Amino acid sequence: MKKLLITGGAGFIGANFVHYTLKHNPEYEVTVIDKLTYAGNPDNLASVLDKITFVTGDICDRNLIDELVAKNDIVVHFAAESHNDNSLRDPWPFVETNIIGTYTILEAIRKHKKRLHHISTDEVFGDLELDDPDRFTETTPYEPSSPYSSTKAGSDHLVRAWIRSFGIEATISNCSNNYGPYQHIEKFIPRQITNILSDVKPKLYGTGEQVRDWIHVDDHNSAVHMIIEAGVLGETYIIGADNDHVNNKMVIELICELMGKGKDWYEHVNDRPGHDMRYAMDSSKLRRDLGWTPVHTDNETGMRDGLSQTIDWYRDNQAWWQAQKQAVEAKYAESGQ
Ligand code: NAD
Ligand code: TYD
Repeated sequence: MKKLLITGGAGFIGANFVHYTLKHNPEYEVTVIDKLTYAGNPDNLASVLDKITFVTGDICDRNLIDELVAKNDIVVHFAAESHNDNSLRDPWPFVETNIIGTYTILEAIRKHKKRLHHISTDEVFGDLELDDPDRFTETTPYEPSSPYSSTKAGSDHLVRAWIRSFGIEATISNCSNNYGPYQHIEKFIPRQITNILSDVKPKLYGTGEQVRDWIHVDDHNSAVHMIIEAGVLGETYIIGADNDHVNNKMVIELICELMGKGKDWYEHVNDRPGHDMRYAMDSSKLRRDLGWTPVHTDNETGMRDGLSQTIDWYRDNQAWWQAQKQAVEAKYAESGQ
């Protein structure tokens, strides 16, 4: 049985990855390390705590990381500070966790000769113009815009340097915006769903023309499993579900419609400074070389079914988010958002 160490496994994508792994890849023995920041919620793993080992700790803690990496075969590295708006308010935790934390993991991987899969984002590439039909590929130059995306870019560079200079066994994936259950309500889609459930109008930044290439979190995680199992060491893989025709305004209108509100039952709020306009992913390498294909797709927006299920999840799990709602909205109110 292979031993898998999952960093950030109490967060949104990490927790979904733990559930996905236990369901579809029971051959792995799972350990999670998570600092349980504001974004990490142990309840996300409550139903599987008897099936995994859970360690509360910081990826910047060298001794702890050394000990955990030594005990495992593969590290899947999700832990990060992940929200752009927070990185504009206070960049330091982003530098610390995303850069120093990744460095700490890399040094343990090098010392113990273990395998790493590093989780990254499309935001490292910066953005495209709205009318630019291009998509990001594995060779697109890095041009990050925010403290969040620049620290993720820094972490990707560290991984590549450790591959080339020290010969560590690692792969990287850059994925587009995820949606699904367990996503923190500060993020776009769950913020709007929980707004409507609280009888508050959804909030659209600026004109809402920005495009995010949305992907369901389970499709992201199925790709990560394929890369761990069949990916070529040293390689980077782009993960995306071809949703680059859907802008923020269309997503908010769809959420309103699916939740029984008028299509325009939302309000415009202040735009984000430095707001990236368009992300679009070309995942043909992953599809061609590893045979990956997303399953949460439909013909119109590519996300109607996945979004309906996500709305149901937030409706059925109000206790999971309600206690945080007021504080999250108070923070946004300070910047008129
Ligand atoms: P999240 O903020 O929901 O979860 C992050 C988790 O990491 C939390 O459980 C938190 O407690 C933990 N953590 C933070 N700092 C830590 C530290 N120093 N030590 C240990 N644990 C720590 O984030 P997410 O949306 O699940 O993103 C996970 C990863 O996927 C990140 O690396 C992110 O850059 C990447 N990613 C996210 C998206 C997206 O749409 N959310 C898209 C592409 C890539
Ligand atoms: P977000 O979920 O913060 O992800 P990212 O910044 O990584 O793309 O935001 C997704 C998009 O939604 C982004 O273009 C900003 C926009 N947005 C809103 O319009 N309203 C909101 O309340 C939030 C949180 C985001």
